[in-house]
Amino acid sequence: MEQTLVLIKPDGMEKQIVGKVIDRFERAGLKLRGLKLITLTQELLDTWYAHHKDKPFFPELSAFMKSRPVVAMVLSGENAVNKVRDLVGPTDSTKALKGTIRGDFGESIQKNIVHASDALERAEFEIKLLFTLVELFD
Ligand code: CMP
Repeated sequence: MEQTLVLIKPDGMEKQIVGKVIDRFERAGLKLRGLKLITLTQELLDTWYAHHKDKPFFPELSAFMKSRPVVAMVLSGENAVNKVRDLVGPTDSTKALKGTIRGDFGESIQKNIVHASDALERAEFEIKLLFTLVELFD
């Protein structure tokens, strides 16, 4: 069964919509395999966002992602990566349709409520970075 990684970002935490976000995934039949609150460090963000490190928005993005603890979760299900991305909507919340998580709760590109892995290999990388074996459940 496919697995994917979701973060509820600082704006989702500030808005206190953790339950609502998880509810969307559970209603779609996705299963929770791992769940925790973590504070992202600069070291971790340098690895996580290595492909964005030279972008002008990287410093602001890092500062935002470290600004408060985030919820990290692993979800599993058939076609989980794309299923989650469909539920989440496009990166830019202003372009996301109503009914998607970003369309309903997001404000901008940065304040877009959640991160979701964009491919299966990327999901494996992100899950390994944030979760140990004993934190994941069948
Ligand atoms: P995500 O896909 O989770 O990971 C990369 C993040 O960078 C992305 O979400 C956005 O929140 C952020 N991002 C992407 N493009 C921009 C941009 N042009 N300005 C600010 N933030 C951005």
